[in-house]
Amino acid sequence: MFTCSTCQYGSPIKLWKCPACGDFGTFEKSQEVTLKSAKAKKNAPWGNALRSDATHDRARRPLSHAEFQRVIGKQLKQWGVYLLAGEPGIGKSTIVLQLLADLVKNTPALRAAYFSGEEDGSQIMERWTRLGLDWASSPDVYHTTLLEDMSATLESQPYDFLIVDSIQTIATSTVDSVAGSVGQVKTCAQALADLAKKLWVTLLIIGHVTKDGEIAGPKYLEHIVDVVLYLEWDRYGQYRFLRTRKNRFGTTDETGIFEMTLFGLQPVYDLKERILGGKLAIAGHVLSVAIDNGRPIVITLEALLNKTVGKYPQRVALGIENNRLTLIVAILEKYLKLHLGAVDLFINIPWEFVFRDSGLDLAVAAAIYSQYKGKILPNDTIFLGEIGLGGQILPTKLHAKRVAEVRDLQVIDHTKIKYLHQLVEWL
Ligand code: TYD
Ligand code: MG
Repeated sequence: MFTCSTCQYGSPIKLWKCPACGDFGTFEKSQEVTLKSAKAKKNAPWGNALRSDATHDRARRPLSHAEFQRVIGKQLKQWGVYLLAGEPGIGKSTIVLQLLADLVKNTPALRAAYFSGEEDGSQIMERWTRLGLDWASSPDVYHTTLLEDMSATLESQPYDFLIVDSIQTIATSTVDSVAGSVGQVKTCAQALADLAKKLWVTLLIIGHVTKDGEIAGPKYLEHIVDVVLYLEWDRYGQYRFLRTRKNRFGTTDETGIFEMTLFGLQPVYDLKERILGGKLAIAGHVLSVAIDNGRPIVITLEALLNKTVGKYPQRVALGIENNRLTLIVAILEKYLKLHLGAVDLFINIPWEFVFRDSGLDLAVAAAIYSQYKGKILPNDTIFLGEIGLGGQILPTKLHAKRVAEVRDLQVIDHTKIKYLHQLVEWL
């Protein structure tokens, strides 16, 4: 395992140029640490010697990982309380360790405690080394589920950064119910947040979400914390999206895209190239740029038209809203005189991306038209635009941001065509 000394980007082979930060010749072999020494170093719930290294500059929490910066900002707040929510197994514990590694890289004196109710110290340290992270900067790991243990530890040792994994496994003796119950989650989260603010510790709480995407436990949890981050998958599970839902310290309109590798969650820098490469030279395939939580994402969009067999034509939209599809079909029938009344119509965005985005209207119209006429659309043309009920083409939301994402390609939008019927001139 090799790591970029500038940004900690990990790679199984020694790279000359770092794909993450662009620096040259920064890859170094990561230190190998065996599990045995991991066990010996940390595990017990109590008693970790104070680090003797310098404690200056411990107030700063700068982040340097480009994808973390994009979503969270340039730094963590010293007294900030962060919540990271996600389904079990998605990679929460993994990404938190990577975040911590990024913090420690920039502030070596930072002292971190990892309270784990799920895995014991050796498991966490095994993961730390598996991620290729530096042994010397590892956190003190406490395998405990009792709130009182945590507060006693925090009061007695000068920690700067605290991770609680996960809030659903923590319980306090003052509440008479099991860990994970609403009362426990609420009381423990509030107590930890109060303590963090009092001691000027940055607190990061991990929370599980249920199948329907809600944080297990009360919504209340989201009110206690300053920043809510969600780690979510695309439906194939290939990509992980890190999104801000609430941010008292900055914006919430960014998405980080990662994929799970043998060496933890690595940012995906070439999603655009991967998607552009997936566009086939067949009728019905078009390219566009969608917006996900403020981040532009290049997509391919496919349309398939078939003669209706049953009584009613089918309209199936995967990735866009069904109502939008119905609307676009009506507009196409009226202004382009397409006969879609006896045609089954399917729209799909590969990789099961799902958007609620009227900016894809023109791409949907182009895909249907292309299938209808059997015309193949070029691989270097992007369709961008909302379509009004009068057939007029409107700019999309965050139009400039989308156009900037595809600077090197031709963009067909409201500046090129004013009304839908002009679309045919470009196909
Ligand atoms: P984990 O962080 O444990 O998820 P969570 O804390 O959200 O439950 O990791 C999820 C999965 O990722 C786990 O099954 C193992 C896998 N994984 C990798 O594929 N590569 C890695 O480098 C690591 C650390 C985990
Ligand atoms: Mg975990």
